[in-house]
Amino acid sequence: MKRPSGATQVAAVIGHPVRHSLSPVLHNAAFEACDLDWVYVALDVEPGAAPAALTGVRALGIRGLNVTMPHKTDVAHAVDRLTPEAQALDAVNCVTNHDGDLIGHNTDGPGFVDSLRAEGIDVHAMACVVLGAGGAARAVVRSLADAGAREVVVVNRTAGKAAVAAALADGVGRVGSTADLAGADLIVNATSVGMGDPATSAALPLEPHVLRAGQVVADLVYHPLETGLLVAARQAGATPVGGLGMLVHQAGRAFSLWTGVAAPIDTMMDAALAHLAR
Ligand code: ATR
Repeated sequence: MKRPSGATQVAAVIGHPVRHSLSPVLHNAAFEACDLDWVYVALDVEPGAAPAALTGVRALGIRGLNVTMPHKTDVAHAVDRLTPEAQALDAVNCVTNHDGDLIGHNTDGPGFVDSLRAEGIDVHAMACVVLGAGGAARAVVRSLADAGAREVVVVNRTAGKAAVAAALADGVGRVGSTADLAGADLIVNATSVGMGDPATSAALPLEPHVLRAGQVVADLVYHPLETGLLVAARQAGATPVGGLGMLVHQAGRAFSLWTGVAAPIDTMMDAALAHLAR
């Protein structure tokens, strides 16, 4: 990587904890591949301190910011403007800095749809079921509807949260149950079930007998890369899609927003895989 100089531009992610974030790996690989004199660092910001961090972004001229847990909503309330996506979700994962005027974006959902498109999957007219109703699920629900899904059914342990998530799928969302899974063209696991050490987290977010050939089964979990759900999908003849693609594509969108340069997605994916293999 180019050695930073007085002219180097800075991008960063804020979160807590943030030390194990993959974002520096993805973005520094992309800056290098595109020969951009930029550097990306991870900054641990205590809960509640996001507004102060944004004051720092303005004062220091930090050109691009990613936002992760637990700051996404606080940042949505502290930037100067929001994109319609970030406003609907009340959550920001990416900030652009226009001479101190901060715009909050949310690239998570579009990144998910991009990751499907990269696998040759078009969600237009698909019947979709999203398992989970947390921040990641809400972003996916909205973007599936935006991309023309026929319906977006939200299935969640806590019913009240499912209703809030389903309302984000303009006109095509509803709360459903596991009975909706067998008829779905696309099933997305946006719960944390299956995350962690594969030896201790073999749990599946659904009964595998509902899976069948012709379905696409996407897991937002990328640790492990090959989740129990993806294995079950493959065994059933369905098309499995892993969670690393969403992470890389949401980063790719942020990269382009900050630099104006098309993101080198393959380089970013390779860097992520190499890092995770270590
Ligand atoms: P994120 O921001 O990554 O989306 P989150 O907001 O904590 O994370 O959401 C986690 C989701 O996984 C929630 O929908 C949660 O269900 P509840 O809304 O009922 O809490 C879901 N989840 C977590 N553990 C689960 C489990 N063991 N079984 C079913 N759903 C689970």
